[in-house]
Amino acid sequence: MTVRGIGTWYRYWSRRSGVNEHHPAEGPVDASPEGQSAPLTSSPIGAPTASHGRAAFHVEPPVSQPPRPATILTVANQKGGVGKTTTAVSLAAALAELGFRVLLVDLDPQGNATSGVGLRARVEAYTIYDALVEEGDIGETIEVTAIPNLYVVPANLDLAGAEIELVSAFNREQKLRRVLDPIRPAFDLIIVDCPPSLGLLTVNALSAGDGVIVPIQCEYFALEGLGALRRNTDLIRAQLNPSLQIVGFVLTMLDARTRLSQQVVEEVRTHFGDLVFNTRIPRSVRLAEAPGFGQPITVFDPASRGAMAYRRLADEVLQRLDLNANGHSQEHLQEGVG
Ligand SMILES: Nc1ncnc2c1ncn2[C@@H]1O[C@H](COP(=O)(O)OP(=O)(O)OP(=O)(O)O)[C@@H](O)[C@H]1O
Ligand SMILES: [Mg+2]
Repeated sequence: MTVRGIGTWYRYWSRRSGVNEHHPAEGPVDASPEGQSAPLTSSPIGAPTASHGRAAFHVEPPVSQPPRPATILTVANQKGGVGKTTTAVSLAAALAELGFRVLLVDLDPQGNATSGVGLRARVEAYTIYDALVEEGDIGETIEVTAIPNLYVVPANLDLAGAEIELVSAFNREQKLRRVLDPIRPAFDLIIVDCPPSLGLLTVNALSAGDGVIVPIQCEYFALEGLGALRRNTDLIRAQLNPSLQIVGFVLTMLDARTRLSQQVVEEVRTHFGDLVFNTRIPRSVRLAEAPGFGQPITVFDPASRGAMAYRRLADEVLQRLDLNANGHSQEHLQEGVG
């Protein structure tokens, strides 16, 4: 389903950046006319987002237009099993479907985002661990997926040691930001899937992010731990990353028929007001089945309720980031919340 991404990604990146950079493993630089002088590829930012059709965006910007660094979105909640990975994968796929160049970064040793887009979290694979802890080249970790415009930096169990191994590292909270910096211009959006903890990996993801999306499962104790997450977000904003904002809280696994779900919706709304996305993700068997097939819901069952919900969420996220306007997204995020 997927192919190893090193050569492909480097060729892709060098075409975009026009630097003819290539990875040694690739052999000689592609000598085809396309490989040598292709203009910067299209960025949909600036184009309308009304259509969900594939390849809806093919706007060729002028060659002189510098690529804008990707907006980094972190999907976090230290509570386990609330829908972080499902949200990260589905949102990434919905945005890629719109034509945005999306990089999904798996920052969870469980590797669920990796397998969710069809890659096996192989032991021998070159992963985020190598870039984060071993100071390897992030470009070499990027793999292409079967979904157009969607790339992934995989994770596997190696990453479980990172929390401890990073402790002694210089500026350990900012490592991910530094690792992602050089590749930001190659993408429109980078989506980071966090593990269920508030440890160093999540702190790194929050320090790197422009925005955080918090999935909340419509269950008992839905708000549990969110105070700690908000305090952490405040601390990180104050000390490490002033541009970090909460983009929104998204209610997941909603069963609209139950009183409990309705209660949770009301409670979350009371606490977080307009920060709660209007889009609610329904509990759906198809969403639960999709990871088993290594496909995001938008591919696994494009017309399903889950797929439609995540497309609506993608629209809302784009609106909140103001990614259709010119100018930097952070300037348009809501101030003073977190
Ligand atoms: N809307 C949904 N409807 C039905 N099942 C869902 C839905 N969202 C997620 N699931 C399922 O619930 C489980 C937990 O979801 P997911 O892995 O996305 O949560 P998570 O927060 O990433 O978990 P972890 O904290 O372990 O990383 C998975 O089996 C997933 O397939
Ligand atoms: Mg997960």
